[in-house]
Amino acid sequence: MYLTKEEEKILDGEYGEILRKCMNLLVSLGDIYGAERLIPIKSAQISGVSYKTIGDIGLEFLEDFSKENVKVKVHSTLNPSGMDLDIWRELGISEEFAKKQLRIIEAFKKMGVEIGCTCTPYLTGNLPKFGEHISWAESSAVCFANSVIGARTNREGGPSALASAIIGKTPYYGYHLDENRKANYVIELDSQLIKNIDKEESFYGALGYLVGKIVKNGVPYFENLYKLNPNNDDLKSLGAAMAASGGVALYHAKNLTVECKVKNVINDKVEKITIGIDDIKESYEKLNTINEEPDLICIGCPHCSLMEIKKIAEMLKDKKLKTDLWVCCSLHIKSIADRMGYTKIIKKSGGKIIKDTCMVVSPIEDLGYKVVATNSGKASVYLPSFCKSEVIFDDLKNIIGK
Ligand code: F3S
Repeated sequence: MYLTKEEEKILDGEYGEILRKCMNLLVSLGDIYGAERLIPIKSAQISGVSYKTIGDIGLEFLEDFSKENVKVKVHSTLNPSGMDLDIWRELGISEEFAKKQLRIIEAFKKMGVEIGCTCTPYLTGNLPKFGEHISWAESSAVCFANSVIGARTNREGGPSALASAIIGKTPYYGYHLDENRKANYVIELDSQLIKNIDKEESFYGALGYLVGKIVKNGVPYFENLYKLNPNNDDLKSLGAAMAASGGVALYHAKNLTVECKVKNVINDKVEKITIGIDDIKESYEKLNTINEEPDLICIGCPHCSLMEIKKIAEMLKDKKLKTDLWVCCSLHIKSIADRMGYTKIIKKSGGKIIKDTCMVVSPIEDLGYKVVATNSGKASVYLPSFCKSEVIFDDLKNIIGK
């Protein structure tokens, strides 16, 4: 890989060991994937934040890094941690877990990373522009940024996103290049499906789960999804579920996503897939692992927008929940929900708005929850393995209605 003189100096350790390690990681990645050079990035989004997922090894690694007084060079934001950083006691998180989680957050803060702890950074000020190169790690955010916004990022891991944030660059390969951004699958929704859908927001999770399984790491192009008039929240659910079930990092959708409005994004050779009512029914059957009462309802995977919280608050007005409810979102969105009075309504019904974390990366299995109801396709994929929980997957109106 071609390196500038300055990049070579960093690689030779002239600016210290941490920068050398970061450059070494980026160059190794570039060599593996055949990148010709490094390119500057505008922002980074770093995963590997929850103590539940990175453990003591991750904590020690981050503390070692942060001791050297190294700072990130670009606007860098953080994925959800393992707990709400303020009300963790109220949630039943242990002192030991909390202490270690707070040390992780402190290490990132020392490096200059914005500690907003959200998987929807594009709703909270880390909003790339069309065509901008970025280095993001959270798979659902990668899918949203590449597809809905038209920015360019690979699916980074926590360490490579952090290395890119510190160096301010990423290797030029994969989804940074035009030729890898073309669709190799065209997805058409059957006309009967379009006419007869009886699901609301959870439909996008079910569809994403199915398409992810079909295209596996490929790039799908949705020919007629626009006929359902999905909003940005629907598109974030769709991308998150495809990322979870099939490693999808980029999709295009006629009349909905940006890139296909300005250029041809379809490969000469594509596989055409038609999706019908039975296929979607099968997705629901696969994602639902149990037919019982939930002991926890979790909404907000990816983290809720204000509009999603508003919808929940309207549903819960003057009602009492029989089951615990977590509505997960960022600190930013919660602040506005507080002001709008949504937090109060949800609290009065027995639910909680929880920030900085989510149902997958927090240790809900240690809090005694065994059956989780959610409207998220991505959470439904991960809950059984990450939290050992059974899943009820449906629309919010059905989950809360029950
Ligand atoms: Fe976000 Fe957690 Fe889902 S990080 S995308 S809410 S698994």
